[in-house]
Order: sequence, then C-alpha cells, then structure tokens
Amino acid sequence: MGAATVTVLGATGKTGRAVALAALRRGLVVRGVSRHGPPSPRGDDGPAAGSDRGTDDLPAGVDRFLADPLTGEGLVDALTGADAAYLVAPNVHPAEVDLVARAARVATEVGVARVVHHSVADPDDARMPHHVRKGRAERLLRELRPDAVVLRPCAYQQNLLPAALAGRIEVPYRLDAPFSLVDLDDVAEVAASALAGGLEPGSTHVLAGPEELTVADLAETAARVLGRPVAATATTVERWRAGPGSGLGPGAAEELAAMFRAYDESGFPADPGPLARLLGRPPISWAELLRRHTR
Ligand SMILES: NC(=O)c1ccc[n+]([C@@H]2O[C@H](COP(=O)([O-])OP(=O)(O)OC[C@H]3O[C@@H](n4cnc5c(N)ncnc54)[C@H](OP(=O)(O)O)[C@@H]3O)[C@@H](O)[C@H]2O)c1
Repeated sequence: MGAATVTVLGATGKTGRAVALAALRRGLVVRGVSRHGPPSPRGDDGPAAGSDRGTDDLPAGVDRFLADPLTGEGLVDALTGADAAYLVAPNVHPAEVDLVARAARVATEVGVARVVHHSVADPDDARMPHHVRKGRAERLLRELRPDAVVLRPCAYQQNLLPAALAGRIEVPYRLDAPFSLVDLDDVAEVAASALAGGLEPGSTHVLAGPEELTVADLAETAARVLGRPVAATATTVERWRAGPGSGLGPGAAEELAAMFRAYDESGFPADPGPLARLLGRPPISWAELLRRHTR
C-alpha cells in the first residue's frame, strides 16, 4: 500500500504550512489548498492578490490545489482521492463555522476516511468571539463527522518568537499573566499523526506547552538563552489598535482586542499532560525553541 494522501487547508498560512511540513516528514503525500497560484518571481502576484492573502507560499514538496474553502470552489477536486483532510480556518475569520462545515461535508461526500480539525484550547470561552466560533464549529463537526479528531492547541510559542529574537516583546496585556505557549511544530507533529490515523477516531486533544510562563518570564528566559537584553513591555489595547493592529479590518481588530482583554484577566494556561503523552517525549520548551534559533 502506498503512502496516504492528505489535504491540508490553509496550507500557505502559519499553521497549515507547519502541518504540511510535518506530514511530508512523516512520508505522507501532501496536497496544499490555496486560493492562489504560486507567487511570480517578480513578486507581482497579479489581480488575484489581495490584502487577505496568506502569509507565505506552500512548502516545497506540497502539491498545490487551487480552492477557496470559503466558497467551496475547487474543494471537491482537492479532497477527492485523499485519505485524510486537515480543516483549519484563517485566523479570526467570521465565516469559520460555515467553512469547517462545508469542508467536512465535501470530505464526507467524496469519501475522505479521516477528518482532523484545528480548534483551540478553551473553545467556549465566551470572552473571545473567535473561540466561541471554534466551539460551534466543533459541535457542528461532531454532528457531521462523529469520527473527526479535534485538536485544541494553546497559543503558539512562535507568536512571540520574532519579538523575542528582536529584543523586545510588547503585548497589550499585563506582563504577569500565565500562558502555556506551545511549539507549533509539536502541534504539527500531532496533526500529522492524526492525519496518518494514529489518533483515536472521535477524540479531542488539548495541546499545551510544558510550562506556564508569563511574558516577563519569556523575556527573562530569552535574554538568558540568547545572551543579550530582551525587554518585556506592556502597552494598552488602544495603543495596539492604533499601532500594530491598525492594518486589520474592524472585525478582526475588535476580536483580537477582546482576546487581549481576556489574556489580561487570566492569561491562557492549559493542561500540559496530553501533548507529552501524544508525542511520547517532552514537548519543546520556550528555552529549547530559542536555542534552536541560536545554532
Ligand atoms: N496563532 C495561534 O497561536 C493559534 C493557536 C490556536 C489556534 N489557532 C488557529 O489556527 C488557525 C490558523 O491560523 P493561522 O494564523 O495559521 O492562519 P492564517 O495564516 O491566518 O490563514 C491560513 C490560510 O488561510 C487561507 N485562506 C483561505 N481563505 C481565506 C480568507 N477568506 N481570508 C484569509 N485567508 C484565507 C490563506 O491561504 P491562501 O491565501 O493561500 O488561500 C491563509 O494562508 C486559526 O483558526 C487560529 O484561530 C491559532
């Protein structure tokens, strides 16, 4: 029997790229869904390029399938003949529930054996509309595909890595709030295992990092590991909206502002146990991730 074929939605994005790469490392044949053709060598992507374009292109070795998970166009081709599908919605997207349901329906219609859904830890946290949508998407998915595997990652270590490497982590919430940041590549390793059929059908898994750290702790560890100063500074949500958040649409900015207010109240800690069990090794710590970037 040949290697399993898997279709990864959002494969040009932060999460989808990591999952596609982990699936390739596992020897799977990977189809990456994108709404766009490859970027032109001149960097002129033509009329299809827009402000909501993904952050990067598909990893090498991934077969491009042109499809739009929002309209459903191209999804039948992208999913027909695949053994597994990874359903991941763009960050803070208002149509997440429809997008996940449509992809699950098409996957079922064309006979995809395994469906894996990328959710979030604490999906029903009412303070954060984008978490609540993930809770709704999970429940709808469970009706459509009771056998789907659901992964619930905490926030990624990689969200704050560029700032740490640049020497200043500035966040619009208090510096002593606790987080169980998880390595995105650890999440992707579990995702690839699920796509290959290694996780119990119908199971749900919280994926959190091995330690609870505050942003102050993250900066202190980064300074020690990198051997140079790394500052932690708190700004306000209002200043974030006028600065780093100013390029976002009003809906996304409001939802991320709500997330930062929730982080200010209680951080984002989660149970570290399941990830270590799924990986069969200790998950990557923040210090280890930083060390990888100093080698
Ligand atoms: N960041 C975290 O710490 C974290 C933690 C837990 C869960 N999550 C969840 O992980 C998911 C993925 O987040 P991400 O940041 O990896 O995704 P992303 O980079 O925002 O988007 C992934 C891809 O979605 C595609 N896409 C399709 N339709 C789109 C549309 N209408 N608008 C924008 N993009 C569209 C884009 O690819 P093309 O342009 O090539 O079509 C894009 O590359 C989100 O649902 C997020 O909530 C994130």
